[in-house]
Amino acid sequence: MDSFYRDTWTEINLDHIAYNIRSVKKILPGNQHLIAVVKANAYGHGDAQIARVAVEEGADMLAVAFLDEAMALRGKGIMHPTLVLGAVSPLYIKEASHQRIRLTIHNVEWLEEVVQQCSDLQSPLYVHLKVDTGMGRLGIRSLKELEKIALLLRGNSNIILEGVFTHFATADELNNRKYNIQYESFKKMVNHLNTLGFCPAYIHSANSAALLRFPQDMFTAVRLGIAMYGLSPSAEIKQVLPFSLKEAFSLHSRIVHIKKVKKGDTISYGATYEAEREEWIGTVPIGYADGWIRRMQHFHVLVDGKLVPIVGRVCMDQMMIRLPQKYPLGEKVTLIGRQLTREISIDDVANHMQTINYEVPCLISYRVPRLFIQGGCVCNGKNYLLSANLS
Ligand SMILES: Cc1ncc(COP(=O)(O)O)c(C=O)c1O
Repeated sequence: MDSFYRDTWTEINLDHIAYNIRSVKKILPGNQHLIAVVKANAYGHGDAQIARVAVEEGADMLAVAFLDEAMALRGKGIMHPTLVLGAVSPLYIKEASHQRIRLTIHNVEWLEEVVQQCSDLQSPLYVHLKVDTGMGRLGIRSLKELEKIALLLRGNSNIILEGVFTHFATADELNNRKYNIQYESFKKMVNHLNTLGFCPAYIHSANSAALLRFPQDMFTAVRLGIAMYGLSPSAEIKQVLPFSLKEAFSLHSRIVHIKKVKKGDTISYGATYEAEREEWIGTVPIGYADGWIRRMQHFHVLVDGKLVPIVGRVCMDQMMIRLPQKYPLGEKVTLIGRQLTREISIDDVANHMQTINYEVPCLISYRVPRLFIQGGCVCNGKNYLLSANLS
């Protein structure tokens, strides 16, 4: 979104993304391939812009959840090798091979269907084999299935096995028991794949939590998601991270209406908030349709460097805050981020929402424009808001 006309926006600090990637690369023990996970619009941060920075910082591959997300990147000029981690119907292998999009073999039946349809492909189809070592989501689970896959691949030179991977269910927990079981079972599968004559270039098990905690366990590639965005994979391991991450996402708005209310006046749907005295109430144009959900009632935002409460129910497009004094219309409101010495982090918001930090930027909807900050400057957006005071 290059032009926008509303008083609510996010700022995505691309320098922080670059810093987080560089910091991760420093702790990798070998020359592991870096796969930057940019699914779900780069966890709500903006797919193409994050992908560009990741590629500049040396990512060898991008990963998304759906073929649509990979095609969207192509549509925005991102031609870097891209892996779809989720299941894609065999009906679409032509589009994938044509666009150099790698697909995931998530079961034997899928590969059997693909084999039947791949004879007339113009370019080869690159695939990564998913092994389910304990996540219970996608992937083959036995050596027998692995042997069937090997047999199918051997007979089809149009399908190139570029990678093999698994996904950890508990790498972000301090108890390593399940992680160790999954790690050992993946190693066994990879060894068996080697004995069957396949040595794919990309062998990857690590998500952010695993690569931050067990860098010695890396195979030939890693999949970097949440840590690239500056967020800890869990509260539990935040204290044991090898370096501090820099959060890239902040969320801002402005006061568009202000009034003094009397004791007993009520605010918003259901009249759940009643003024206890004369109070200054500001209206902020963000609501649950923007992903600032109704549960945010009773939380707070920053105005003039001070924490001020959200009062009354959050509406679809607006919410109200109680101010300590009158402020001019247009006064900046920070919902996530820093003002002067105070900060509201994504983790703070996630705690209030009773969810995990991953969900918070993903929730902030397409209605909220993303401004990208690099070298202290805004690199997109053309209209009046940009000349206004962003800081
Ligand atoms: C298969 C797969 N790999 C990697 C990731 C990235 O994980 P993280 O964001 O914890 O680094 C995800 C995220 O959900 C995933 O589903």
